[in-house]
Amino acid sequence: MEISLDKKIIVISGGTKGVGKQLALQCAADGAHVVISGRDEASAARIIEAAKGAPGSIEFKKTDLHSVESIRELFAFVASKCNKLDGFVNYAGITPAASLTECSESLFNEVFDIDIKAAFFCCQEAVKLMQKTGGGSIVLVGSTHHRRGNKDRTAYACAKGALFTLSNHIARHYAEDKIRCNYLVMGWTPTDGELALRKSQGISEADLRKEAAKAIPMGRMTETDDIVPGMMYLLSDSSSMLTGSEFTLNGGELI
Ligand SMILES: NC(=O)c1ccc[n+]([C@@H]2O[C@H](COP(=O)([O-])OP(=O)(O)OC[C@H]3O[C@@H](n4cnc5c(N)ncnc54)[C@H](OP(=O)(O)O)[C@@H]3O)[C@@H](O)[C@H]2O)c1
Repeated sequence: MEISLDKKIIVISGGTKGVGKQLALQCAADGAHVVISGRDEASAARIIEAAKGAPGSIEFKKTDLHSVESIRELFAFVASKCNKLDGFVNYAGITPAASLTECSESLFNEVFDIDIKAAFFCCQEAVKLMQKTGGGSIVLVGSTHHRRGNKDRTAYACAKGALFTLSNHIARHYAEDKIRCNYLVMGWTPTDGELALRKSQGISEADLRKEAAKAIPMGRMTETDDIVPGMMYLLSDSSSMLTGSEFTLNGGELI
């Protein structure tokens, strides 16, 4: 089976870091034209440089997910430059720790703004564009927290649960437009965001890896390279009958 993204137009929210960045580079290497979004212009410039000479290409559209207007500008940019959209990956997210009894209103609002409200309005624009151009594939990056969550991440768990509902909603109601949507249950991965959170809690990367190895049946953390091929499969025509799935890539975490 060959997974090909050649000539596909793909948008990645959160394409400036971690798995989003690696996915963008891999898609460009496979011939896709990728638009990455985020706020970090320096990181985006390095990614664009790294993709030079690839069969595909990468462009950056600076986007602040706090603003629905900024989200609409991202998709208007894609519509005006590419006039179609084949794939959208909602990778961007924030994961601050706070239990139910500790969570402030401002932390709750921040998590919900980025992890579900922004994803909702990105999907609104992605679906509208895909409806015009014959369909496409949406991948919503979720987490093992979406069913009950760990005790220290209540707002995050609730937002990821709502994202799961959004994924099933799109899969059920927009299949008629040839739009697929899958919820990727991403495992515990030492991304920039995860390492920064743990550092703020006084936990080093080495200790994080040891803790995760004990908790994950497969005995190690999930790595970026474990996730990117799964995302490429979900974006490609090889998965054309796969929709509404909980696509789990987490080494058996929470079994
Ligand atoms: N790491 C894990 O163990 C793990 C496990 C399960 C699920 N996840 C999911 O993976 C995703 C990434 O999380 P991560 O902590 O691993 O982070 P990460 O790799 O550091 O990436 C976070 C991305 O989100 C973007 N972003 C955040 N706030 C934004 C805003 N206001 N406007 C625009 N872009 C914004 C960042 O872009 P800029 O910096 O350019 O603004 C960055 O590209 C999240 O959806 C998270 O739920 C992570």
